Amino acid sequence: MKVGFYQYNPVFGKKEENVRRVLSAIRETDADLLVLPEFFATGYQFVSREEVTGLSEKIPEGHTTQALSALSKKKNLHIVAGLPEKAGELFYNSAILTGPDGFIGVYRKTHLFFEEKLFFSPGDTGFQVWDTSIGHIGIMICFDWYFPESMRTLALMGADIVAHPSNLVLPHCPNSMPVRCRENRVYAVTANRIGEEARKEGTPLRFIGLSQITAPDGSILVQALEDDEALLTLDIDPALARNKAVTSLNNLFEDRRPEMYRTISKTRLQNSGSPEESG
Ligand code: ACM
Repeated sequence: MKVGFYQYNPVFGKKEENVRRVLSAIRETDADLLVLPEFFATGYQFVSREEVTGLSEKIPEGHTTQALSALSKKKNLHIVAGLPEKAGELFYNSAILTGPDGFIGVYRKTHLFFEEKLFFSPGDTGFQVWDTSIGHIGIMICFDWYFPESMRTLALMGADIVAHPSNLVLPHCPNSMPVRCRENRVYAVTANRIGEEARKEGTPLRFIGLSQITAPDGSILVQALEDDEALLTLDIDPALARNKAVTSLNNLFEDRRPEMYRTISKTRLQNSGSPEESG
């Protein structure tokens, strides 16, 4: 099975041009699963509710979902891609999964990052894993990685591969995904973007590139550069993600002791302190 990502620099607000550019770039791929970045066709740094309203789409009726569904059908290809979703009066930072039969499902980002909180609602779908013809595919979006519960939940739900559309600006994710993958024994395909957006005075954002495919043993199988557009694909064996044995007497899932982790499902607010990171 071949999986991959497309890393590039979308132009903010030029949604249909960006969709056309991506469709043209990935047209020749022979991947079975391709992951695109978070907000892959709109750009990231929204500065008003009007912009969010103008660029968000209903899922699956909207143009972007329809265009990706059509390509998926034509090429027998699964695609995971991030886009702003309009649902009634609310907006979500969402990602869709499409496949050979068209639209499959949507995930709405659970952990919103920085100024996403000004315009988007926290996701209400919960984490989901889809049982597809190429394996069990789960989705998390960018900052979700920072919360180990995200990948743990997806792994416990049976994900072989975690598709991870991203617009990373902090530097920590590429070095942290090996631990996330190793502790859950799953593959991850992190599709980040490149370039900069400085649409808001005082908050320029530089996206760090370095999209990568990480294996269940924590090795980084392939990684893009910080600044270059890249379409990278690789053969993987999803069966490796189904073996959770650590030693002949240890199993990652069977050895869990949820009764010892009861506080994890409770929220205990500590004093919030000053931020370690500036977005
Ligand atoms: C992020 O969640 N876009 C950093």
